[in-house]
Amino acid sequence: MERAIKKIAVLPGDGIGPEIIEQAVKVAKAIEPKLSCALQFDYAEIGACAIRSCGEPYPDSTDKVCKEADAILFGAVGDPQFDNNPSAKVRPEQGLLKMRKSLGLFANIRPLKPYEELLDASPLKREVISGTDMVIIRELTGGIYFGEPRGRTEDGRKAFDSCIYSVEEIERIARIAFEYASRRRKKLTLVDKANVLATSRLWREVVTRIGKSDYPNIELDFMFVDNAAMKLVMAPAQLDVVLTENMFGDILSDMGGAIGGSIGLMPSASAGSRYALYEPIHGSFPQAKGKNIANPVATILSLAMLFEDSLGEPDAAKAIREACALSIKERICTPDIVPGSSCGTSQVGDFIASTALSILG
Ligand code: IPM
Ligand code: MG
Repeated sequence: MERAIKKIAVLPGDGIGPEIIEQAVKVAKAIEPKLSCALQFDYAEIGACAIRSCGEPYPDSTDKVCKEADAILFGAVGDPQFDNNPSAKVRPEQGLLKMRKSLGLFANIRPLKPYEELLDASPLKREVISGTDMVIIRELTGGIYFGEPRGRTEDGRKAFDSCIYSVEEIERIARIAFEYASRRRKKLTLVDKANVLATSRLWREVVTRIGKSDYPNIELDFMFVDNAAMKLVMAPAQLDVVLTENMFGDILSDMGGAIGGSIGLMPSASAGSRYALYEPIHGSFPQAKGKNIANPVATILSLAMLFEDSLGEPDAAKAIREACALSIKERICTPDIVPGSSCGTSQVGDFIASTALSILG
């Protein structure tokens, strides 16, 4: 029987983006014969490379490719040329934010479960991080990232950003968090700053209401973000599903990278009601560009999430995850994991691709 074709929009972006995406695509192509669908990869530009080629960080042509796809695989954006120039009119990161908004990707899912073999690779003590298995659910299209008004006063001496949340924006992400909690340890922690911020108080009100009416069996608790930051480094195993707003989620999830031993291992999914995008949580790491040292595992694990959540291929997802775990067990890793390792980005990709294929038999 002819297999249905599933389209994957591939957005490598900047810095190490193209190299790590190449590994994920390599893995996808290797296991394709074992899938129930055939794959089509449609490449498009985003970030600094898009600014250079057409002046726009997220061109309409890229938006179109994303909207026609069954899932989107994304690398990273960002370029020192723009970071060091505060007067740059367009920035690569605007492309990412514009894409999240245009595709309605309001729910950012960031799982965090360190590999047993890497418990000693973390700057945190083994006994502190052992047993950590959490997921950060970060609201992605609201809050201070997008609130209007924002900008500078006319005399240029003041700047402002607005943090705004509506009941609807909180409700839809809260439901996703409660669903995750239902499938896990039935525990949800809302992280906020309700002792200071009006938006946080609205979050508490809305999340409490939904919990009481629709998820009475989920234990809901609240934590101020400063305290959550401490908890994350002192007792991360006590956290399970963490729900939080855009900016707090951004910060806490990078902190989570320390627990896993390397931020180069952390995948994520960003979903809305129609589209879903999968990306590593790390950035474009321009210093490593082209050196074959960037860790491709976060991107490959993001691909596993893509197979599971968007393409309905749970066996493929499982095989990819097992292959990643095996690469770590056998220390076929980039230098961020095994200092001095001579194994590069593409060798890790080769190993995971062939191992995932053989796991699928
Ligand atoms: C992330 C990144 C982005 C964010 C940047 C690149 C705009 O840090 O996805 O966590 O802040 O959301
Ligand atoms: Mg971030």
